[in-house]
Amino acid sequence: MKTFISDALLERLADDLVSQGWAIADDFLLPAQTRQLASECRQRDAQGLLTEAATGRGNALRIRPTVRGDSIQWLEPGQSPVTDDYLLAMDALRRGLNASLYLGLEDYESHFALYPPGAFYMRHLDRFRDDDRRDLSAVFYLNENWSDDAGGELRLFLDENPDQPRSLDVQPLAGRLVLFRSAQLFHEVLPAQCERLSLTGWFRRRGSGVL
Ligand code: OGA
Ligand code: MN
Repeated sequence: MKTFISDALLERLADDLVSQGWAIADDFLLPAQTRQLASECRQRDAQGLLTEAATGRGNALRIRPTVRGDSIQWLEPGQSPVTDDYLLAMDALRRGLNASLYLGLEDYESHFALYPPGAFYMRHLDRFRDDDRRDLSAVFYLNENWSDDAGGELRLFLDENPDQPRSLDVQPLAGRLVLFRSAQLFHEVLPAQCERLSLTGWFRRRGSGVL
């Protein structure tokens, strides 16, 4: 299993994060690994382990299908060999980014996400209002044979000037990893015509306490 990340890739991702606040790596894992993660996600869904995602935290936690329509299951170490390998790969990425960017990323939290056809996630920021630990968002896509007209793009809002909104639409292609700064980059998930699978997660820093 591939949990090793080359220095060249780390360097490119670090450079892109510094210069633009986001970075994309295609073929981040081996195709067989990505395929296994997809079938693990489908299996867990069939077993009823994925539950409707909520927004907010603590007392503000709500299920709002008009805001987001995906179902999720949080990863924990020891759930399955393929998710454990994924966590190892993300930990290697965390340590590599810390070494080059001094980000002080301490841990990584992540969940499977399944968007049924038509589901979306409205424009939002990933950092919570009362918890500033999420620093870097990481979305790894599991969709083989995704067609160009299937929708389901991740739309990154790169420029917040309302007169000139500049955005980038990223297709959720199997093996593609997208990284972006959690506190800065507004983004949304456009509705897709077919089921859309991903592993979504956040590298976290030590927090400055409840804000
Ligand atoms: C999220 C999110 C993006 C995606 O879960 O917070 O923005 O492309 N996901 O799935
Ligand atoms: Mn998000």
